[in-house]
Amino acid sequence: GETALVDRFGRRHRSLRLSVTDRCNLRCSYCMPAEGAEFVPRSTLLTFEEITRVVTLVSCRYGIHDVRLTGGEPLVRRELPKLVKMLAEIPSVKDLSLTTNAMLLESMAVPLRSAGLTRLNISIDTLDEVTFETLTRRKGFHSVLRGIDAAIAAGFERIKLNTTAIRGVTEKEVVRLVNFAIEKGVQIRFIEFMPLDADRNWTHGGVLRGDEIRQIIESHFGTLTECGDRDSQPATDYLLNQEVSVGLIESVSKPFCDACDRIRLTADGSIRNCLFSQQEFHLRELLRGGADDEAILEQFTNAIAAKAASHAIGEAGFSQPQRPMYSIGG
Ligand code: GTP
Ligand code: 5AD
Ligand code: SF4
Repeated sequence: GETALVDRFGRRHRSLRLSVTDRCNLRCSYCMPAEGAEFVPRSTLLTFEEITRVVTLVSCRYGIHDVRLTGGEPLVRRELPKLVKMLAEIPSVKDLSLTTNAMLLESMAVPLRSAGLTRLNISIDTLDEVTFETLTRRKGFHSVLRGIDAAIAAGFERIKLNTTAIRGVTEKEVVRLVNFAIEKGVQIRFIEFMPLDADRNWTHGGVLRGDEIRQIIESHFGTLTECGDRDSQPATDYLLNQEVSVGLIESVSKPFCDACDRIRLTADGSIRNCLFSQQEFHLRELLRGGADDEAILEQFTNAIAAKAASHAIGEAGFSQPQRPMYSIGG
């Protein structure tokens, strides 16, 4: 039967964010170190069979029906559509989504859709090629644009664009990005920069806040009215026109921890109860050591039992987690 996975604060967990690799084909400064990262050895990556076993167990037992694939960049994991198909075939998985930088999406959009992926979130921080190369320390801006078009053509149920806000850069991109989203008929969300950068350069003052972004949007598009049911999604949504909305993910200035329903699994098989947790619950050794299903499920209840009330960014005693974003999974 199904048992709710509830933490000490009464939050029920329904969503699993699953990183399939820590590797990436970009080097965004809010995530990756400039000198390049040291990636985990491939032998420590959970196999598709191991992942499928875990997802089957937690979706059946705990009612974790939403699964999002993340990275690193998930599309650099070889044969990803094969994993998507394996997960889509699990009857208790209802929503299977992916967050990507779209570099490899042009050729992957149709195979992913055919394999059973339902929703796609695509990161795009700028519409200027030179700025793209500065932010990501790589070439590939036009691949991203072609990836977005391929995804739209592939007929996903829903596509969202993600823009991580960078003070000094994003201010002049907001209006064009919103217009781009309107033109493409997809939602766009602006995300506050969180202390998860490998270079550990994050400061409170460096966060371009959601209310500042909102002001830029309103001065151009008029007053925004909130729309939609927020549920447990991180964004507050505002309607732009009949089809398109803009969302603000104010993870720093207005945390959504109270409504958090997420649990994470890193590519090398550690359960994390929060982006900002200091503790991990190892699964890989259990999976490879012949553990039975109950032992694996128990590791999830252990992780949830230890979950903190909130990320506590800005509060006394806060310290940035050891792993940067690319290593945790977005
Ligand atoms: P849907 O709402 O289902 O589309 O997914 P999502 O918005 O959760 O997924 P996505 O991977 O697009 O996440 C967008 C951004 O939200 C990420 O880049 C993070 O910055 C932020 N985010 C995602 N999960 C968490 C979380 O657990 N805590 C915090 N503080 N931020 C998160
Ligand atoms: N703060 C906020 N968002 C981040 N992302 C990566 N690093 C950070 C950070 N430090 C976002 C990316 C992408 C998603 C996977 O996570 O922009 O949209
Ligand atoms: Fe890669 Fe995403 Fe990190 Fe950028 S934010 S370096 S796209 S994992």
